Amino acid sequence: MLKIEEQQQPVEFSSALVEKFDEIVSRYPAGKQKSALLPLLHLVQAEFGWTSAPAMDKVAEYLNIEPIEVYEVASFYSMYFLQPKGKYVLEVCRTGPCCLVGAEKIMSHIEGKLGVKEGEVTADGLFSWRGVECLAACGYAPVLQIGPEYTFYENLTEQSVDTLIDNLRNK
Ligand code: FES
Repeated sequence: MLKIEEQQQPVEFSSALVEKFDEIVSRYPAGKQKSALLPLLHLVQAEFGWTSAPAMDKVAEYLNIEPIEVYEVASFYSMYFLQPKGKYVLEVCRTGPCCLVGAEKIMSHIEGKLGVKEGEVTADGLFSWRGVECLAACGYAPVLQIGPEYTFYENLTEQSVDTLIDNLRNK
């Protein structure tokens, strides 16, 4: 859910970022610039770490569309983060097959190990975690993926999750 009141910091787009916008928009026919919205939001997220409301407003202004058109898209796709997040985001599948073999236990283990609730950021800025819908690897459940690279891990145990987190901490 978009929480506009938490996202009031103004943002400025660098000329390098706008140049990338221009290049992407140039791939589409004149008047169809809205079609570039998804890649532009990815660029914004890569630049700022998340897609804040002021950043989405600026994208709307750039594309000459209404802010609500950007909010609709950004809030539909879970790859866009509408709140600040850690450098690494652990996304645990919480759909039926993964739950049957312990996904909920894995999520509470992650919550305890990181010391933050779902959606929060650890004090060192390194980690967030959340439950997501089926990651299409049900036969290897329970599974998780870790953004920003979306590396994928199967057959999770509490021990393997500890190793994953410790390795990322020591990177
Ligand atoms: S239910 Fe978890 S990957 Fe499909």
